[in-house]
Amino acid sequence: MRGRERFRLGGPDGLLGLARGLGLRLPFSDDVGALLQPANVGPLALPNRLAVHPLEGADAGPRGEPTELTRRRYVRFAAGGSGLLWFEAAAVSPEGRSNPRQLLLSRQNLDSWKRLTEDVRREAEASLGRDHRTALILQLTHSGRFARPDGTSKPVIARHHPLLDRLAGLEKDHPLVSDAELDRLAEAHAAAARLAAAAGFDGVDVKACHGYLIGELLAARERPASRYGGSYEDRTRWLKDTIRGIKAENPGLLVTSRLSAYDGPGAPAGFGCLASDEGRTEDLAEPIRLVQELAAAGVPLVSITVGIPALHPHIGRPFDVPVRGAALPEEHPLTGVARHIAITGQVQKAVPGLALLGAGYSWLKEFAPPVAAGALTEGSAALIGLGRGALAYPGWVRDLRDGGRLDPGRVCTACSRCSELLRRGGPAGCVIRDKKPYAAVYRDLCGPVRCAGRPAGRARRNPGGADRRSRDRTAVSRNETGKEPDRH
Ligand SMILES: Cc1cc2nc3c(=O)[nH]c(=O)nc-3n(C[C@H](O)[C@H](O)[C@H](O)COP(=O)(O)O)c2cc1C
Repeated sequence: MRGRERFRLGGPDGLLGLARGLGLRLPFSDDVGALLQPANVGPLALPNRLAVHPLEGADAGPRGEPTELTRRRYVRFAAGGSGLLWFEAAAVSPEGRSNPRQLLLSRQNLDSWKRLTEDVRREAEASLGRDHRTALILQLTHSGRFARPDGTSKPVIARHHPLLDRLAGLEKDHPLVSDAELDRLAEAHAAAARLAAAAGFDGVDVKACHGYLIGELLAARERPASRYGGSYEDRTRWLKDTIRGIKAENPGLLVTSRLSAYDGPGAPAGFGCLASDEGRTEDLAEPIRLVQELAAAGVPLVSITVGIPALHPHIGRPFDVPVRGAALPEEHPLTGVARHIAITGQVQKAVPGLALLGAGYSWLKEFAPPVAAGALTEGSAALIGLGRGALAYPGWVRDLRDGGRLDPGRVCTACSRCSELLRRGGPAGCVIRDKKPYAAVYRDLCGPVRCAGRPAGRARRNPGGADRRSRDRTAVSRNETGKEPDRH
């Protein structure tokens, strides 16, 4: 394993110098005020342009209902001041859960969801005033090949993929999900969307990313005789039809999707990938066409993400320290951050009438806001969110508003422990900045908490990070060797 000390950015000059050294273009603006401006997105009047990305906590109760730990997470996010809370993946059916503690929306547990949204709204109002109305979007999902509803693998796949099949222990002839099952899944999404509206959400996200079932379907070029595979039209049909159906039934509800614009390297090529070089290079023609079509169908907002965490966790979630037992990728984390921002920017510039929510900023630590402000100002996204950064520092937007900067002592250390907790079945949270309760959970599930930011093995200084120049974006973590894959 390539060990190194947690990279210290020093100051803005250090960050920008590092970007130059790596040959990367990174937007940057000292004026973070743009992030705090209100925005209208479809039916939503957002108090600012900052969001919390979906973060699976794996802490649901036995019927998939939010528990006190779930409530704690969202109430803290709400008090933190983001204009938009994008709630984590909630399964639309019991068999679609990624683990037995994944949230599930059902008629039986609807009241617990109502209480959650009410508590979240109450907290936002109490902390930020009556004018601050945080928008709440719920991500709807089927975990596809990563389904483990009872703790054991129950994969449902849209296509075969040698590496991913091997990770799940699948035979070559494992059946693909049928069109009839996909039709039933569309109905399950529609039913969950109705429940989400009744629970008090402003919108729902039909999740289509990270290698989960619908994300995989977007890339399923080799589904013979299927209405939902093969050509671009057929691969995207399910998503577009399902979104149109939910919209037609729920005119007041914002219907959106978290979309992978670039699945990352691997063969067969994923969505947004150039097939001729096994996806090492992005090819955004199809993602752009899809976002254009969603815009034409009246979708005002799309969240853009990249990568399949089970294959390449560093592509969508650049880190300083990998999960235990995994290798540190060759690619410098800033290369991943810059790629994510650039991809989102290319899609946003091609579809300026639709608001894109950008991700992948947490590794930037206290410099996430100026980079996000730069991206916003140059039109590379309309909204920006933090994932891991918000788990570590739920009050980040308030602090930015009140002091113009983030506290370096509270930012995410990009140590991957939240991912490790999720990988172990959760509950997942920030082990470093939210020790109570997560340090004890981590000790129980994963072993002793190592010193923050220091990878296992021999640490060595890496003052410029230049030795991690973007040599090989295809470097994969040891997940490929058959260990339990990363989730989300
Ligand atoms: C513990 C954990 C749970 C996650 N859960 C989800 C999820 O439920 N849905 C999703 O789309 N992405 C999920 N993600 C990905 C994040 O939303 C986000 O895209 C990623 O962490 C990169 O953003 P960041 O650099 O700000 O962390 C998860 C990430 C982590 C670390």
